[in-house]
Amino acid sequence: MGFLCGLQVLLLLSLCSHRLQKLSAQSPPTNATSYSSSSLDALLQDYSYRAFVRPRTGILYQGTVPSNLTGIKVAAMRLRSGSLRKRGVSSLNEFSIPSGVIVKPYVTRLVLVYQNLANFSHLYYPLSGYDYVAPVLGLLAYDAKNLSAINLPELDLRVSKDPIRIDFSDLEPIPQGSSAKCVSFDSQGKPSFSDSIQPGNTCETERQGHFSVVVKSVASAPSPAPPPATEKGKEKKKSSESNSRTWIIVGSVVGGLILLGLLLFLVLRCRNYKKQEKMKEMEKAGETGEALRMTQVGETRAPTASTTRTQPMLETEYAA
Ligand SMILES: *[C@@H]1O[C@H](CO)[C@@H](O)[C@H](O)[C@H]1NC(C)=O
Ligand SMILES: *[C@@H]1O[C@H](CO)[C@@H](O)[C@H](O)[C@H]1NC(C)=O
Ligand SMILES: *[C@@H]1O[C@H](CO)[C@@H](O)[C@H](O)[C@H]1NC(C)=O
Ligand SMILES: *[C@@H]1O[C@H](CO)[C@@H](O)[C@H](O)[C@H]1NC(C)=O
Repeated sequence: MGFLCGLQVLLLLSLCSHRLQKLSAQSPPTNATSYSSSSLDALLQDYSYRAFVRPRTGILYQGTVPSNLTGIKVAAMRLRSGSLRKRGVSSLNEFSIPSGVIVKPYVTRLVLVYQNLANFSHLYYPLSGYDYVAPVLGLLAYDAKNLSAINLPELDLRVSKDPIRIDFSDLEPIPQGSSAKCVSFDSQGKPSFSDSIQPGNTCETERQGHFSVVVKSVASAPSPAPPPATEKGKEKKKSSESNSRTWIIVGSVVGGLILLGLLLFLVLRCRNYKKQEKMKEMEKAGETGEALRMTQVGETRAPTASTTRTQPMLETEYAA
């Protein structure tokens, strides 16, 4: 029986170490497309500029996007800076730009690029603890001097009087008890939230950028502010990675403790069993009044008689 106990303990130990090995070998899967919002901006600038074939100023041209971004909408409008400042643009899809907008650095003509990220919103602008109830919309400005240029730097738009308004009248249903907030992302992708959405489901901004409407996630109710994302996608992934790593560590510690407890239990049980065995032996010895000599037979101890009491006799011996 001692042998069996030892075997059990060994088995448990090997199981334990095997599990730990597996856990430590488990690295988080890193095969995912990286969604960088700044490279998306650059790509969409290129694709929206392609919509311009002999463009007239002040007209919004719909662009096309590569097939891997199907769903995203882009549009572009070429304007004179002076005209933008004097008159604004009353309707650029959801955006309405008042007069008094200043472009920096100064360019004679600029292009306003409109983006609607649709179902790609949460991929390029992940927000932990919040759910989008509207697509992320972008309004960016670039120099219009060279309409085949790529990788153009963004221009800075600043309102000097009224804010730019964004009409989010088509919100997804808002869960009961939640309130919608406007969120805006700066060029580094850092989000900032308003207290609540404006009446008529509009948001306001004083500069260019990306905008949407969110509600607090129901699943992760009181969640901390999203990490200060400089490289949004990566940051988010990192945090969830470290999160799952934490869980793995917690899991292995708890699992280890449970296994240790089990081991202890087994060892104690084995010892107990051995004691009982000894007691039984002693009792038996007392009953028979004769100390049986114990011999090791394999791994078990068995009583053996020191001498054979009846000598075997051959029948022929009787006859003799
Ligand atoms: C990711 O997985 C796909 C197949 O699912 C593979 O073609 C691709 O090379 C992988 N990328 C990386 C970076 O491992
Ligand atoms: C989508 O396709 C374009 C052009 O084919 C490519 O430049 C871009 O990197 C792709 N983007 C993603 C996210 O796959
Ligand atoms: C977004 O929706 C379009 C259809 O409108 C679909 O083709 C595309 O695969 C979707 N993309 C994502 C990332 O869900
Ligand atoms: C416009 O940009 C393209 C692409 O960068 C470049 O090849 C071309 O020479 C530029 N044209 C002018 C007039 O600067």
